[in-house]
Amino acid sequence: MSTRPIGIGFIGSGGIAQNHHLPVYQKLRDEGLVEIVAIADVNEAVATATAERFRVLHVYTDYRELIARPDIDAVVVCTPNFLHKQPAIEAFQAGKHVFVEKPIALNAIEGAAMVEAARVAGKKLQVGYCMRFSTGAQAVKRLVDDGRLGEIYHARCHALRRRGIPAHGVFTQKDKQGGGPLIDIGVHILDLTLWLMGHPKPVSVSGQTFAKFGKRSDVLGLLGQWDPSKFTVEDYAVGLIRFESGASLVLESSFAANIEKDEFYTQLMGVDGGAYLNPRDIAETKLFREESGMLTDTTTFGLKPNVWHDAEIRSFIDALLSDKPVVAPGEEGLVVAQILDALYESSETGKEVYL
Ligand SMILES: NC(=O)c1ccc[n+]([C@@H]2O[C@H](COP(=O)([O-])OP(=O)(O)OC[C@H]3O[C@@H](n4cnc5c(N)ncnc54)[C@H](O)[C@@H]3O)[C@@H](O)[C@H]2O)c1
Repeated sequence: MSTRPIGIGFIGSGGIAQNHHLPVYQKLRDEGLVEIVAIADVNEAVATATAERFRVLHVYTDYRELIARPDIDAVVVCTPNFLHKQPAIEAFQAGKHVFVEKPIALNAIEGAAMVEAARVAGKKLQVGYCMRFSTGAQAVKRLVDDGRLGEIYHARCHALRRRGIPAHGVFTQKDKQGGGPLIDIGVHILDLTLWLMGHPKPVSVSGQTFAKFGKRSDVLGLLGQWDPSKFTVEDYAVGLIRFESGASLVLESSFAANIEKDEFYTQLMGVDGGAYLNPRDIAETKLFREESGMLTDTTTFGLKPNVWHDAEIRSFIDALLSDKPVVAPGEEGLVVAQILDALYESSETGKEVYL
């Protein structure tokens, strides 16, 4: 069990750290729960500006110096995907807990090494699957746990952008990111769906990926202009996952596709009811059933606004203070990574991949 205030170190201080993590940690510091001890970023200007903005005293360009500090109990890894594994493993070896942004790592081999390092160190590893903490997801989880859907035999989930190829960071470079929309936004909706389904054991994956837009310079960039010459990931992926229970899941994810509009949802099909959830919009939380000879649709009222990063980070800190299991542990992040690896392999080989 950790004692308050928990010493926190940030590795990577870019978009997600500045916009979502640090504002919450600032509140937790005011509540006396944490101390934000240090920030490490290879970009010294970014690290220094972020440290000034959030009143953090120590700045490093080498994350190893941050990890070496004895007053840091937990490390928050907010670097690009190819830099999740190494800082996390070194933090475990130094006796720290780790919160790593999603996905767990570039692939399942890296993810497994992180899970093993956490086990050996006896420390906690949480993966940044923040959408589990959205108000709508929590509500649908309660419906599932209350048995309102019955057996869930199938799910379909979409994380689709019509024109949303990222222009910043390394999100279009396979070697640094591990893939395209599948590993960036598809992971969120896949993780959410697996969690709502109660984590059935995946047995096989069949998938197909395409790169039809990202390498072209004549395609609209609604998120800014990316460099087509550096685009080495897919821009659309589809997969069918079969589970040991007999259930299945279909996942689609895109950065660019000729579709009417962006879609971000999961739809669970149960024998007693179906649920539709857009974790970003609480108004799109719905339940479909047949009751007393009628088809009934239930919409929801009174759900609190989403504060998912707040809830996610508070849950991590609570797990450290109370020595409870984390929500979204490394083991579950590893299963997501195994499914992604299998989907990419299936697309390359043209065959179903057995896990
Ligand atoms: N949970 C979410 O919804 C969500 C949203 C956005 C990003 N993310 C994840 O967060 C991670 C970072 O994404 P981002 O959008 O903040 O990217 P970003 O490019 O804005 O920031 C990454 C930062 O890491 C720094 N960095 C690179 N190498 C480093 C090193 N060796 N040591 C220390 N710092 C280093 C960069 O200089 C940069 O400041 C990714 O894994 C991404 O998938 C999660």
